[in-house]
Formats: sequence, structure tokens, C-alpha cells
Amino acid sequence: MRDLAWPLLRPLLFRLDPEAAHHATLAVARRCPRLLGALVGGRPPAGLARTLLGRAVPSPIGLAAGLDKDAVALPLWERLGFGFVEVGTVTPLPQPGNPRPRIHRLPGERALINRMGFPSDGAEAVAARLEALRAAGRWPAIPVAVNLGKNKDTPAEDAHIDYARAARRLAPLADWLVVNVSSPNTPGLRALQAREPLLRILEATRGAAGGRPVLLKLSPDLEPEALAEAVDLAIDAGAAGIVATNTTITRPVARPELLPEGGLSGAPLFPLARARIEAALAAARGRVPVIGVGGVDRPERAADLLALGCAAVQVYTGLIYEGPGLVRRLNAHLARAGRG
Ligand SMILES: Cc1cc2nc3c(=O)[nH]c(=O)nc-3n(C[C@H](O)[C@H](O)[C@H](O)COP(=O)(O)O)c2cc1C
Repeated sequence: MRDLAWPLLRPLLFRLDPEAAHHATLAVARRCPRLLGALVGGRPPAGLARTLLGRAVPSPIGLAAGLDKDAVALPLWERLGFGFVEVGTVTPLPQPGNPRPRIHRLPGERALINRMGFPSDGAEAVAARLEALRAAGRWPAIPVAVNLGKNKDTPAEDAHIDYARAARRLAPLADWLVVNVSSPNTPGLRALQAREPLLRILEATRGAAGGRPVLLKLSPDLEPEALAEAVDLAIDAGAAGIVATNTTITRPVARPELLPEGGLSGAPLFPLARARIEAALAAARGRVPVIGVGGVDRPERAADLLALGCAAVQVYTGLIYEGPGLVRRLNAHLARAGRG
């Protein structure tokens, strides 16, 4: 019965501009987390609990970065059945991001193309929001990761200063930090995945993280060799884990010439993300956990990434097409399949 609500609600939401639909949904989510949780969520079956980055997680399914960028709906996610949540990308200073429209739906492909460009309330505002939540006793029981980025106006050679600044403010409130150098919508950002800038950024972020684990999030558009090199280098530099992957600027869909610029996510990303996740796992050689993300929109795909060796799996676009009940269905399938 509760799985019938989304097929009815989705066409109404899909009549709205994607970002308007996003904000409308988040507004409900932040006001009624209990009700939403009761309607479509549910605690993960006990057998799925595990340890991730030294923290207890009730499920290996996490919310990917970008959906709750400014941490406005934190009490909701555990009620949907997520085992952990990654908020952000948060930039050190507030910035508006790219002009709208900046999210495009491809309903036939069950994909999104976004060129958000890190709209962010900024590290100070997000930290204050998290502190208020903690003071009000509404802090979630699941781990909260914070994904960090640089401001658009910061020159590439100063990027490490941005990551360190955001890390210093947010690390005390986070279970772990994720360095995002892989979004395609901030000019020059992905060039920071090269050896020298990456080392500088990881070193500066770790130095400001007060001992919190620092993970690195990579692009699926890196060739496997470059990705393996980045993984190796990150581990040598003390990264505690890898998040693979971000969105792609490639267009693994029909009629690509008609599509807008930006990062593609959702179902068609899965084969590419899976290949890069495999490369990341091979390069990591079990030294640090790899969190798999990209195109997970059905239980078999989550199970597949866990069977490959991922320590956990994240979802974003699948929630838009399958609805928030997807989390409960992923958990139920994994529990039945004995992936606990
Ligand atoms: C609208 C939108 C905004 C996103 N914003 C961010 C972001 O701010 N930081 C980030 O690291 N990833 C961001 N992502 C990427 C997701 O976290 C994820 O890596 C990617 O979408 C692939 O997973 P999916 O196919 O399950 O969506 C965004 C994705 C979408 C669709």
C-alpha cells in the first residue's frame, strides 16, 4: 500500500521545475520527518548493521552528497532507513551556484543532468545549523559525513586553503569528511584530482580535521589508470576511504547531442560507475573502504556493488525516480539476500 503513494505523487512533482520540486520535497521533509518516516521509511533489519570508518551504521545504504547540501533535513534520513548521510557539498563561504535552471530530468532514462555549481549556505551557516540540531537533542543516531568543496572564486592554487577552512569549522560536527574534487560544475575543480594539488588538499584537510577520517570522492570520467593513481596517492597521503563516483560529463544515453551541459547521474551512469568502482577497489587493495555510488536505483545494483567489495553504497537519483521508499526496499532485499 505505502509503495503506491510515489507513483501518484511523482507525476505531480514532475510537473514542477526539478529544483522547485526538490525544495518543495525538502520543505516537507524538514517539517514532518516523523510522518514521512512512518509513511515510507522504516528501520533497517538488524542483520544489516556493521561498522564503517569506525562508526556503527545500521545499514550499508547511505544518502549521497548533494540532496541535503545545507543539512536542512537531517532528522529525516535515518527515518527513511539510511545507515548514514553525507551532507554538502559545503563551501567555506556562502555562494549562489550557477544560474537556474540547473537541473534537468531525463525521465525516459531515469537520469538527471545537473550543473548546480555548489550553491551553499557556507561552512559557518551549516555548522551553526548542525550545532543547533545537537543542542536541541535532534541529532540523528546515524553517522553524518560532511562533503567539502572550494568556492568558485578561489584560485586553484589556493584550493587547499578553502578545504582546510571548511574542514576546521565542520570537522567537530562530522563523523567523517569527504573531499570533493570531482564535481564537473565548478571550473577547474576536477583538475585538482592530479597529483600535486591532490596531495596539498588532502594534507591541508587532514591537518584541519582534528583526527576525523578524510575521504576522497572521485570522478567516473578519470581513466582507470588515473583513478588508480589517485586512489593510491590518497591512501599514501592518509585518506581513510574513497567515494566513487560523482556524476559524469559523458552521455551514455540516446541522442546525447540534444542534452544540456552538466553532470549526469542515475540509471545510465551505473555501468561506468561500476567499472570505476572496480578500479578503485583494485587500487585500494582492502587498505581503506570504498563507498560505491552511481546509478543505484534497484536492489540488485546495491547488492552487486556490495558483492564487488564496497563497504557501503550511496544513492541520490534513484530516490527521485523510485521515491523515498527505495531505501526500505534496498534494505529489505539486502537483508533477504544475506548481505548483512
Ligand atoms: C542534483 C545533484 C546535485 C549533486 N550535488 C553534489 C554535491 O554537491 N557534491 C557531491 O559530491 N556530489 C553531488 N552530486 C553527486 C551525487 O552525490 C552522486 O555522486 C551522483 O549523483 C551519482 O549517484 P546517483 O546516480 O545515485 O545520483 C549531485 C548529484 C545530483 C543529481
